[in-house]
Amino acid sequence: MEILYLSRQDIEGLGIGMREVIEVVDQGFRLKGIGKTEMPPKPGIHTRPHAFIHAMPAYVKEMEVAGLKWVSGYPSNPEIGLPYITGLLVLNAPDTGIPFAVMDCAWITAMRTGASAGVSAKYLVGKESGVVGILGCGVQARTSLRALVETLPGLSRVQCYDLFPEASRRFIEEMGRMFPVLQMEQSRNPDEMMEDADVVVTAIPIVTEPKPPLRAGMLKKGGLAISLDYDSAWTGSAMRECDKFVSDDVHQLLSTKEEGIYFGSIPEHIYADLGDLAAGLKPGREGPMERIFSMNMGIAVDDMVTARLVYERAKVKGAGTRLPL
Ligand SMILES: NC(=O)c1ccc[n+]([C@@H]2O[C@H](COP(=O)([O-])OP(=O)(O)OC[C@H]3O[C@@H](n4cnc5c(N)ncnc54)[C@H](O)[C@@H]3O)[C@@H](O)[C@H]2O)c1
Repeated sequence: MEILYLSRQDIEGLGIGMREVIEVVDQGFRLKGIGKTEMPPKPGIHTRPHAFIHAMPAYVKEMEVAGLKWVSGYPSNPEIGLPYITGLLVLNAPDTGIPFAVMDCAWITAMRTGASAGVSAKYLVGKESGVVGILGCGVQARTSLRALVETLPGLSRVQCYDLFPEASRRFIEEMGRMFPVLQMEQSRNPDEMMEDADVVVTAIPIVTEPKPPLRAGMLKKGGLAISLDYDSAWTGSAMRECDKFVSDDVHQLLSTKEEGIYFGSIPEHIYADLGDLAAGLKPGREGPMERIFSMNMGIAVDDMVTARLVYERAKVKGAGTRLPL
């Protein structure tokens, strides 16, 4: 028996685009919505304050992909020149359970997280959305913007803010090169970043005692907030003032809330799971003035459908290293 090992470089070399990832992630949500996935809430261990190592298993029927992502997030890593998010992903054969691939998960995590923001936008965005606000100009912000470029035909301006101005400058330089038609602006503070923003993506470190910079009244009527950072960026009153509160996995959201650390001040009523929207079980946006909040915690279904895409492409291209099991 053999496994295929795919390093981050192998995966990046496959040339998979954001549009393809959005398609499979959307499809994964649709299957989740109609009950064709098995995905228990992710357990984790916590070796340092604010840090996590999570186990994220999922089986997606019809696509026939099963596996586990073992991913860590250490907010202090960047200070010592190491990435915040690192980890591995294992794929198992659904028939026999035998592992057949092991791969780096940083690219997969970043791409599927961005793609989930794209899926939120697909179902929840207002028609005229042309201005995107970004809080926290790191890895997930980059892939989220790439996904929003795919999903917002009218996107023309990006306003971004990072605690470290150098990080937003680098973001503007890189993303501006990738999308020269976009007007990229560095905001002086979170308030300025929010002005006129139709869609706001927040991707700052998740901490246990956050001081959220975004307050009630800052998200404009008709706006969409996509949180990738739990409840670090938005106050409880800001989340509660939204007309619809959606999550990529309501079950996981509520079980995390029950642990008593995060999500203490989210609204009582959760309108829908992204899976419900993708499967057409509930309507997404219903009016131009609705304020909508999408809490995208990141789910293993997104990882597995993206990993399958990676594995299939790697087979075609002969990428990776074969190792004995
Ligand atoms: N929901 C998901 O699916 C998912 C997946 C991966 C990561 N994440 C989360 O997304 C967040 C960002 O991850 P990343 O990989 O992009 O990290 P990153 O380190 O690449 O980027 C984070 C950025 O936020 C900036 N920042 C820190 N505090 C800030 C503040 N108060 N205001 C503005 N900017 C601030 C940092 O300077 C940095 O540029 C983390 O919370 C991570 O856990 C979520």
